[in-house]
Amino acid sequence: MERERTFIMIKPDAVQRGLIGEIINRFVKKGYKLIAMKLMQIPRSLAEQHYAEHKDKPFFESLIQYITSAPVVAMVWEGKEIVATARVMIGATDPLKAAPGSIRGTYGVDLGRNVIHASDSKESAKREIELFFKPEEILTYSLTLENWLYE
Ligand code: RTP
Ligand code: MG
Repeated sequence: MERERTFIMIKPDAVQRGLIGEIINRFVKKGYKLIAMKLMQIPRSLAEQHYAEHKDKPFFESLIQYITSAPVVAMVWEGKEIVATARVMIGATDPLKAAPGSIRGTYGVDLGRNVIHASDSKESAKREIELFFKPEEILTYSLTLENWLYE
């Protein structure tokens, strides 16, 4: 069974706009497995660590303000080639440039309110999962339909 994991976060705008269920549904229906999840308001220190690669960018402060402004849903998902596939499913960073049908392409219009985060590489996924979750918060379980998802 494929064990690749990625970190997905439903951002504050999407939580406020009632999109939690619709976003989770997309990953479930694709065939991915939810193995950790929490509703949380991100402390500033965690937000700064999560987005450390952008700390010298002009948009850093507004990004931190946005992501800490209200609750988010932090999740770990598992499945075949999920890191790269989740990036395709969420769409380009700017929702106006994101493919129609992608999550950002469907639900957003503004770069600074782009609905969802997904790790951009396997290395980022590992780092971000460890930032947001303790090992015991990540569950191992089987779905009875796995034989219908994987040959
Ligand atoms: P994310 O990390 O949030 O999933 O987004 P991403 O990989 O698609 O894009 P990234 O380059 O990591 O940028 C992180 C977030 O910063 C905001 N941003 N603003 N004003 C700008 O030029 C600019 N560029 C990026 C976006 O909210 C983006 O999600
Ligand atoms: Mg990123």
